Amino acid sequence: MTRPSWAPEGIDLDRPSASRVYDYFVGGMHNFEIDRQLAQQIETFTPNVAETMRANRDLLRRCVRFLTDQGIEQFLDIGSGIPTVGNVHEVAQAADPSARVVYVDIDPVAVAHSAAILADNPNAAVVQADAGRPETILADPSVQRLIDFDKPVAVLLLGVLHFVTDDADPAGCVTRLGAAVPAGSYLAITHATADGQPAEVLEAQKLSGRTSTEIVLRTHDEIAAYFTGWTMLDPGLVHLPLWRPEHPDDIGEHPERSGAYGAVARKD
Ligand SMILES: C[S@@+](CC[C@H](N)C(=O)[O-])C[C@H]1O[C@@H](n2cnc3c(N)ncnc32)[C@H](O)[C@@H]1O
Repeated sequence: MTRPSWAPEGIDLDRPSASRVYDYFVGGMHNFEIDRQLAQQIETFTPNVAETMRANRDLLRRCVRFLTDQGIEQFLDIGSGIPTVGNVHEVAQAADPSARVVYVDIDPVAVAHSAAILADNPNAAVVQADAGRPETILADPSVQRLIDFDKPVAVLLLGVLHFVTDDADPAGCVTRLGAAVPAGSYLAITHATADGQPAEVLEAQKLSGRTSTEIVLRTHDEIAAYFTGWTMLDPGLVHLPLWRPEHPDDIGEHPERSGAYGAVARKD
């Protein structure tokens, strides 16, 4: 297939990518036929998957608004994805135009598109890096330039830790990120789970292996353990629609079917 102008050179056009599949599910335009085919196959096993991904994006917006209300002015958004509507810098800078945001993603399309959108934004940047290598992220010149590690930072790991396999020690990665930020900082995580899901979700999980970032479904207890050392905020680690809903539509009819959990915690 021909490479569209927004896709950087060198990307494998014959392999679906997690960021472009997610972009398709949340209604974005930066995906290929190969991504849409995989998304549709995943949907045959988990018909509520698009709803879950939209619930994730909705939680992101509520979470960033909540964090700006707490006075947070700096965001490190790891696994940030292809920009779509309601990106972190838009939500944060709507509340506080001087808010600083660094996006981090492993995917070249997500990084290229973010760079294009942020070209005129002096308070935001994007870095191509692996969530499984926090030291590389923390040492990156854009991170060092925009984030003041003497002031509270919101570390966002939304929809990304399930792409970090156990060999890469996701708990250790969260611990190392947490150690780099001062008291008063926040940690937000959303993560896919098989808890309460029909057995077919495991077939959908296997399909994700066709991308370069296979998904690892984890239990409530495993995800809650990432918050060790942090003070969990109400309502705790809950199905996505149940995290501080602002409207009955946020909850929907079956929040427990969302297939993912989310929570926000503070470092005291
Ligand atoms: C489901 S999207 C989530 C996007 C956004 N955080 C949100 O919640 O709407 C997951 C993103 O994580 C990225 N990703 C996957 N594995 C990663 C890794 N090891 N390091 C950094 N980003 C990764 C993918 O490229 C994709 O853009």
